[in-house]
Amino acid sequence: MSALFEPLTLREVTIPNRVWMAPMCQYSAEPAGPLAGVPHDWHFAHYAARAAGGTGLIVTEATAVAPEGRISPYDLGLWNDTQVEAFRRITRFLAEQGTVPAVQLGHAGRKASTERTWKGGGPVGPEAHGWQPLAPSAVPFDAHHPVPTELTVDQVQEVIGQFAAAARRALAAGFEAVEIHGAHGYLVNEFLSPHSNHRTDAYGGSYENRTRFALEVVDAVREVWPAEKPVLFRISATDWLDEGGWTPDDTVRFARDLLAHGVDLLDVSTGGNANGVSIPTGPGYQVPFAARVKAETPLPVGAVGLITDSAQAAKIVANGEADVILLGRELLRNPSWARQTARELGAEIRVPIQYHRSV
Ligand code: FNR
Repeated sequence: MSALFEPLTLREVTIPNRVWMAPMCQYSAEPAGPLAGVPHDWHFAHYAARAAGGTGLIVTEATAVAPEGRISPYDLGLWNDTQVEAFRRITRFLAEQGTVPAVQLGHAGRKASTERTWKGGGPVGPEAHGWQPLAPSAVPFDAHHPVPTELTVDQVQEVIGQFAAAARRALAAGFEAVEIHGAHGYLVNEFLSPHSNHRTDAYGGSYENRTRFALEVVDAVREVWPAEKPVLFRISATDWLDEGGWTPDDTVRFARDLLAHGVDLLDVSTGGNANGVSIPTGPGYQVPFAARVKAETPLPVGAVGLITDSAQAAKIVANGEADVILLGRELLRNPSWARQTARELGAEIRVPIQYHRSV
């Protein structure tokens, strides 16, 4: 039996296998009005197909804790009850299929208010449903992005409260796990990294101060999230800067802090916070960052990034480089990747009864 298809239990939630879906924005919600941030048929069909395909756990796309925390006006949100109701349809179907539904809660910080990627992804203003972005410091991501408004300490507290409120709604919506989006240069990541955090108060400067916001978000989420359900955290393990950025050493240290604050798995990505860096991409290029956290801390980890091949995926888990793998684009290409791979490796996997003749 391939380790890839062994179950994993985090707290009291058992995930049937180690093939997980990475969060991927669909930029398909209404940009404004009563249906802003509300999932609909596209989201249902998209997630339902990957659940029917045998995926062990699905992290739904970055879901904003407040309207101004959306990456684009078309992102999903969990700041009102209409959104909760619409998500219930998705979580119910995933659970029926045996897939654990998880939601990625995020705030886009200084990289908020942008166009959909297929429209170029550049910053948008009020004429295209945009808004003024918020950040730890008044430092833009790049020359094309607006200078964000620096959050006051009261506003920092308000955002922490928004994460907690969104987690409470995620529970009401039927999610079994939440993932805090601490990666890719969005708000939580912006606080962590000295590249984007130039504050001189209790939320900036030293490692302890820069990690304070993230840990307060974790604490606030943990306070409302049931003790029997897991909290995941997605991190960018490096800014890919030679100096002045967040480093893999910081990630290892921070993994221990996250564990102490009740996080159950670190989903290890990289980059997105510093513009213009060169990233040596290639098959499994981020796996070593996950493997290092796995080797040096007791925190379970997920590996993500250019994992596409069944033998490659099986080896990452069998070698103990990561506890789970997350697939992004490969699952867009092949919603049944988990079932197809199980078949290839001779592992047991559930098959929807309607598809029994495919076995
Ligand atoms: C992403 N990614 C991403 N990451 C994240 O943390 N939250 C998100 O909402 C998104 N949105 C998103 C949309 C689309 C269309 C893509 C392709 C990617 C990054 C994603 O989760 C993953 O880390 C990368 O795609 C690398 O994995 P793959 O695609 O090489 O398996």
